Amino acid sequence: SISSLSADAVELGKYRHYMQKEIFEQPQALANTLEPIAGAGIISPQIFGAEAVDVLKATRRVLILACGTSYHSGFTARYWLESVAKIPCTVEIASEYRYRESVPETDTLVVVISQSGETADTLAALKHAKSLGMTKTLAICNVPESAIVREAALRFITRAGPEIGVASTKAFTTQLAALALLTLALAKVNGRLSAEQESGYLTQLRHLPVAVGKVLDLEPEIERWAQRFASKQHALFLGRGSHWPIAMEGALKLKEISYIHAESYAAGELKHGPLALVDKDMPVIAVAPADELLEKLKSNLQEVRARGGELYVFADAGSEMPETEGVHILHMPEHYGLLSPVLHVIPLQLLSYHAALVKGTDVDKPRNLAKSVTVE
Ligand code: AGP
Repeated sequence: SISSLSADAVELGKYRHYMQKEIFEQPQALANTLEPIAGAGIISPQIFGAEAVDVLKATRRVLILACGTSYHSGFTARYWLESVAKIPCTVEIASEYRYRESVPETDTLVVVISQSGETADTLAALKHAKSLGMTKTLAICNVPESAIVREAALRFITRAGPEIGVASTKAFTTQLAALALLTLALAKVNGRLSAEQESGYLTQLRHLPVAVGKVLDLEPEIERWAQRFASKQHALFLGRGSHWPIAMEGALKLKEISYIHAESYAAGELKHGPLALVDKDMPVIAVAPADELLEKLKSNLQEVRARGGELYVFADAGSEMPETEGVHILHMPEHYGLLSPVLHVIPLQLLSYHAALVKGTDVDKPRNLAKSVTVE
């Protein structure tokens, strides 16, 4: 089975590590995940299962349960589900949800996200939700015959191919693609998606593999930035809106493979405490898409600069941002609208990979971690 494919069964080819290979496989992995809409001019809810239309029609709220990187993809999707499908969405860490006394709503669609489909906390959280009477369940997973897929009523398999590196990369971006499809399917069955919106979003999704490929071309610049990171003890990742979970994901990546302590924060929270951390030894990485929050983010970055913090900003092409002393700017390709978070995670994956190379850690098997946490 695909999940039991061990490292030696998957060729490294020209790459040095499985993580690097999987980062560069993302255009192809996304194309595979998006295959169900490849030629289609419309989104059909049946891609989530034959009985999906009725389930999605009866959905009044979404509860997403996941761990780690998969939690971050769910957290990103919350912005899409609420703004496009107009459906309230909560996202919970599975190991918390499974034990807390929550209030179930039977018209909830419970979405569990898991690359391996074997994560004990996520499986237990799914079972807990079902025990509370929430029978509408959907698994977004990369392993078709896994325990979590078998436990859920509906499923969407991301088909990213085996992910060997412990640090999840292509699973994350293909989860986001699947969640974008779920958003469109929910909007459509609930009459909240016009024909032109539908074709617009589908065109953006179909173009995603090419757009991701262009971001991967930034690797040499990011490698140079990573040289400066390897000596750091701490780092702060900032983001706003749907890019706040991307900052979370960037911090997790840096922590888990380079062992550098990294924390993510909603940029607007800086002045409520974390700003006290900022000095010349605390690099601040900002996810700065050219969206409606950019001006607000810029003022947060000035606060950082005023305290002597060194800024590393990932900005979209065309964003007016002066590269001044202590402010390093890396321009991404054109702003990608709603799907921008998928593009903005790529440089953060590359940054953590190259920082780990400089530090000489075991990139594919970082200390203390397992690829699938099948025990709690
Ligand atoms: C992410 O890089 C980590 N490997 C880890 O946080 C992982 O995302 C988490 O354990 C969830 O695993 P799953 O997606 O297989 O459920």
